[in-house]
Amino acid sequence: MISKQQIDEIKYRNDIEDVISQYVNLKRAGSNTNGLCPFHSEKSPSFTVYKSSQSFYCFGCGAGGDVITFIMKAENLDYRDALEFLAKRAGITLIEDDRDRDQGMRRTRVLEMNREAARFFHNNLKNSPEALQYLSQRGLDGATIKHFGLGYATESFGALTDHMHKLGYTDEELKTAFLAGISQKSGRAYDYFRKRVIFPIINTSGEVIAFGGRIIDDTKPKYLNTSDTPAFKKSKNLFALNYAKNYCAEKMILCEGYMDVIALHAAGFQNAVATLGTALTPDQARLMKKYTKTVLISYDSDEAGQKAADRAFAILSEAGLETRILRMNGAKDPDEYIRKFGKVGFQKIIDGGLTRFDYKFAAILAENDISTTEGRVKAAALAVEEIARTSSTVERDIYIGQASQKLNVPGESIKRDVEKLISLRRRKVQREQHDKIVLDSQGYGDRVNPDKIKNLRANAAEETILGIMLKFPEYIGMVNKGEFELCEEDFVSEFSRRVFKALTEAGEDFDLGTLNSEFNESEMSRLVKMQIAREGLTVNPVLFKDSINTLREAKQHSELSIEDIINKKRKQSNT
Ligand code: CTP
Ligand code: MN
Repeated sequence: MISKQQIDEIKYRNDIEDVISQYVNLKRAGSNTNGLCPFHSEKSPSFTVYKSSQSFYCFGCGAGGDVITFIMKAENLDYRDALEFLAKRAGITLIEDDRDRDQGMRRTRVLEMNREAARFFHNNLKNSPEALQYLSQRGLDGATIKHFGLGYATESFGALTDHMHKLGYTDEELKTAFLAGISQKSGRAYDYFRKRVIFPIINTSGEVIAFGGRIIDDTKPKYLNTSDTPAFKKSKNLFALNYAKNYCAEKMILCEGYMDVIALHAAGFQNAVATLGTALTPDQARLMKKYTKTVLISYDSDEAGQKAADRAFAILSEAGLETRILRMNGAKDPDEYIRKFGKVGFQKIIDGGLTRFDYKFAAILAENDISTTEGRVKAAALAVEEIARTSSTVERDIYIGQASQKLNVPGESIKRDVEKLISLRRRKVQREQHDKIVLDSQGYGDRVNPDKIKNLRANAAEETILGIMLKFPEYIGMVNKGEFELCEEDFVSEFSRRVFKALTEAGEDFDLGTLNSEFNESEMSRLVKMQIAREGLTVNPVLFKDSINTLREAKQHSELSIEDIINKKRKQSNT
């Protein structure tokens, strides 16, 4: 599809350190650099970038690969689009093999379709008095409609589909972009959004990546949203971030609904965003972390909203964000709150944002009768649980003071209970980590290489052999020339065989970059792990030969696999 030569050029012009340093604050550590991993939440850096092998690896979460893998993960792109992204970054034009040009739906094609559809929906609005009336009844003026590029999908089953056909898009493409469904009866495409106000979802690069559609009467479902497409993952994007990103350096407001966000922006709170019809995800929290320090959770005041706020709290704190919760007293959601109490009213609840503890403690006080001893004991125990969740000691002391005063219990005893609980929890975590390390070292639950457990010794030898070939590609050349007696069948695990095959097929001038299309993210990580385990090693053919011998020997003794042992035991117990 794209030549090895071009991939080489793309990688040559996109030095891994340069690229990653745009995402991660990298500090030099010897010949490598390291920083906080962008793929999981951590406080001390376990993410390392290897300049010499142009690869990265995180010792915390096991993510690893080359610059292409990194962009695939960081920008949420598939292999082909990651290449395009990097090519663009370096000012290279990708030349594709003609045969493959129309294979699969490309991200750029979906984006073109979305842009066209957004324009189409927006134009519809002018000629749809029912939609205009709906929007004005909900308090949206012309400027807001224009600002958000709102549109309307009419009742017609074919308006958009016909329009897109004229522009050369096929039914199949419309379906992939989630703009049309295909009728089971006739096999023909029909418009997916109908009789709905359309909210275009625009990413921080200004691309229309998806749509939300709200019905203008009482028909169900109330909302329809674009499902995941090659251009969109709803768990990794936020509505209105394209605007909010410029207003949220300090604080960002997180809502549940499109209409909440629009009402807030219109009232001057342009730092509001919303999830896209799902609960907040860790990916979204990390995305927010890129732009802001504090998130104000502004969810619906009903029970569902408050439960969701609770979960959002946990996810946001885990991502290292300061978090406050806004209480929507007297209104069901931010949209209604603004209409009832205006801009000034909303500013007040922003200023009165509660910390997680304040919020939880208020609930504890409301649910327990603290005029009785029993109630006080219970409330104190619940408060201790909450305080123990807070990692900052200063914050903890403040909360201990508050609880002590309200419950009329000595601060000292609350503090002791909090400390006891913290050390209990810490020991539990340590025990779990220890168990996990033991199990890992025995090869249990290795998803990349499930065969590992069957023969650990053979597996270790295989990793050495493949690691050397990955780190020193001249060994691939030697293997291919027949300088060692080694072939695919020598390997015990399926995964090792695949790696060996890929390497020998790629030959001596192999590059990790070309493997991204063949191996998934976890597999790429494993390849890099094997490679960097040989960092700083001087290798000679004798060592390589030794590992081959070890593999042979270990394989001989692998006649009894775990499965064999289990089967044998079964047979024994049957007789
Ligand atoms: N949502 C959805 N599908 C539904 C209902 C809701 O995807 N059937 C998502 C939408 O993104 C919506 C958000 O959840 O914006 C919040 O839902 P809800 O509170 O019910 O909607 P509101 O934003 O209050 O919408 P409206 O004011 O238009 O009733
Ligand atoms: Mn709502």
